[in-house]
Amino acid sequence: MTSTIADRLLDWYDRHARALPWRARTGEPAPDPYRVWLSEVMLQQTTVAAVKPYFAAFTARWPDVAALAAAPEEEVMAAWAGLGYYSRARNLVKAARAVAGRGGFPETEAGLRELPGLGAYTAAAVAAIAFDRRAVVVDANVERVVARLFAIETPLPQARKPIRVAAETITPETRAGDFAQAMMDLGATICTTRDPRCLLCPLAEGCAARAQGDPARLPRKTKKKPKPLRLGVAFWIERDNAVWLVRRAGKGMLGGMRALPDDGWSAQADGSGEPPLPGDWEALGRISHTFTHAQLELAVSRYAGDGSPEGEGEWWPLARLEEAGLPTLFAKAARLALA
Ligand code: ADE
Repeated sequence: MTSTIADRLLDWYDRHARALPWRARTGEPAPDPYRVWLSEVMLQQTTVAAVKPYFAAFTARWPDVAALAAAPEEEVMAAWAGLGYYSRARNLVKAARAVAGRGGFPETEAGLRELPGLGAYTAAAVAAIAFDRRAVVVDANVERVVARLFAIETPLPQARKPIRVAAETITPETRAGDFAQAMMDLGATICTTRDPRCLLCPLAEGCAARAQGDPARLPRKTKKKPKPLRLGVAFWIERDNAVWLVRRAGKGMLGGMRALPDDGWSAQADGSGEPPLPGDWEALGRISHTFTHAQLELAVSRYAGDGSPEGEGEWWPLARLEEAGLPTLFAKAARLALA
């Protein structure tokens, strides 16, 4: 009898699964849904290596969903600083409160999907990994593995649908969570973007892209449009070993995060955006930062006068700047100002 793709992959996973802090080892009971959910939210668009220290810090500080639900949103946002995609942190708090309110996580994909901010990927991943439900879990690693296994020529992102359909056909009835994580591990360690190590691959036999001779060719990708360039100025106002910080409004870019005051990123290319204080400003230099939908060139200006900024904000001691929870963009600007 020939074994299925799932059999071969699960057999490989039982021997080679990466030991990761949010996982149960083979044979152990399913991991805590809180830890699964938290890790899956953190892992979206973010590497395992980047997530590990944040996962450790979050679970030490908020060991269960009730603790996270009781946390002030600002503290969670500050603890998330550096991970990016900050709407994830805002939604994390919302979902934690909903879960605590109903007395636990829903156990089905559909039930999970009803939690605020919980998307299709996270619902499928948590249902499969924490609750051993059959669900089709497709992240970027899985997309690559499936596109090669089935030699799907359609480029991404248009290929999402056919990839999903193909993934559905190989997802087993049991151990769907292990299967998903095995696909992710295979994609991360063997079926890598540039140099797939097919000689070590448990699915090499039957891989259509390999049979064609050049698996690294897939998945094809539609050429992305260049990101629009935005120009802005961040303002460094320092006094008595403290810097003036504000909290960014609502839901926009970096919404809810602590920040340096800025000009709304609508400045002229010469960095002459409207400063929060009239008077002398010294140009310190510029930093570049890439967001999902834009490339930002941010000039940093230091206030050289002795006026006081108006409006909401706080003087934050420079000695404790690390604790302010500045997103990477403003942490870079602060480094420039302090250099
Ligand atoms: N990426 C997203 N979820 C993951 C998981 N559970 N294990 C490894 N990598 C992942």
